Amino acid sequence: MVASGRLIKTCKIFSIKGVIVVSGDSPSAWSPEMVERGGYPHFMLKEIHEQPKALRNALSLESDVCRLAARILNDSEQVYITAAGTSNHAGLAGRYMFTRLSAIRSQNIISSEFPELTGELLDENCVVLAISQSGETADTINAVRHAKRQGAKVVSITNVRGSTISKLSDFTVYTYAGPEYGLAATKTFLVQVACLALLSLELALMRGTLSTGEVEELRAELMRSPRIVDETIKRQESVVRDIAYRYADKPSFLFLGRGISTATAMEGALKLKETAYVHAEAYPAGESRHGPIAIIEPGFPVIFIAPPDENYEKLVGNVREIKAYRAEIISVVQEGDREVRKLSDSSIAIPETCPVFTPITYVIPLQLFAYFVAFRRGYNPDKPRYLVKAVTEP
Ligand code: AGP
Repeated sequence: MVASGRLIKTCKIFSIKGVIVVSGDSPSAWSPEMVERGGYPHFMLKEIHEQPKALRNALSLESDVCRLAARILNDSEQVYITAAGTSNHAGLAGRYMFTRLSAIRSQNIISSEFPELTGELLDENCVVLAISQSGETADTINAVRHAKRQGAKVVSITNVRGSTISKLSDFTVYTYAGPEYGLAATKTFLVQVACLALLSLELALMRGTLSTGEVEELRAELMRSPRIVDETIKRQESVVRDIAYRYADKPSFLFLGRGISTATAMEGALKLKETAYVHAEAYPAGESRHGPIAIIEPGFPVIFIAPPDENYEKLVGNVREIKAYRAEIISVVQEGDREVRKLSDSSIAIPETCPVFTPITYVIPLQLFAYFVAFRRGYNPDKPRYLVKAVTEP
């Protein structure tokens, strides 16, 4: 039986929640890890499927926790968002939402470069918003210590109570995603973006950039995202698997998006790099004309994140231009999309999502894509080479 291009000796095939699961033995003979995996072949796939539940948990964040965190940010003259890896991509999405919804002055700086880029420019009027799934990432801890030494306040978003970063922080927002065993962060990205979305709505109320009615409308949209994620996984998993198998042998990929989809593109590229060891770069699509487009060859795979937001028409221009150089276009679009779909060799459709919250839903096919490419290439996506779940050494 060929499950992912590799022969499996003895196996039982059954489906859990509609997902084909291959197991060598009956559940009673499962190892503790297999029990933990709940029958999924890998934690990464299990945790991708746990995202609707994790998202509901994160979105039920107590309003006073959100309000207190937002107040500290709002009382500052400058917010610095700092983090590493996937958490940094969540931070980038947060910055787009902060600017768009609450017009608060923020910038995001990768934590390993934070001390260099901020030097002695911080003070008590600054707030550092530190994001870390584990709460133990050395670079982010150093950034927090660097900020505190200069009198800045620290608000953190983390998944681990009692972690070093939460202990160092003036205030912590927990993401309640549950344990994440897969090395590649999936559900913790979603809950981080969800918490940042709740914070940006709270800030919009405090700063009067949106009316209560507008905020409630957006909150209702945000509360729809667990269902949209659930539908996307159910409807698109096998579509993404087939696309991933078709491109699994490609040596290099470009991920392009505009606006907040830049954060989604960067997260998609990271997932592919760290699980399938494939070269992948992400750019704001507008940047492609300033050089990157020169690497396009016939058949070169380019993944476009193309929600129908205010950047859509410009992005269609990018797709058309790169298509002209005979690249293979893979696009993530909204259900019912025509223009980008027509230009694409493969397309993955997402149910309608509020434009400012699209990283939560449009990242799902990119997580699955990376998972299935890694699986097809015979790698264990849970234990990528050279990587650890929490990088505790700077
Ligand atoms: C993401 O899949 C990686 N595991 C890695 O980039 C991670 O996001 C980074 O090391 C930051 O970890 P943290 O969120 O625990 O601080």
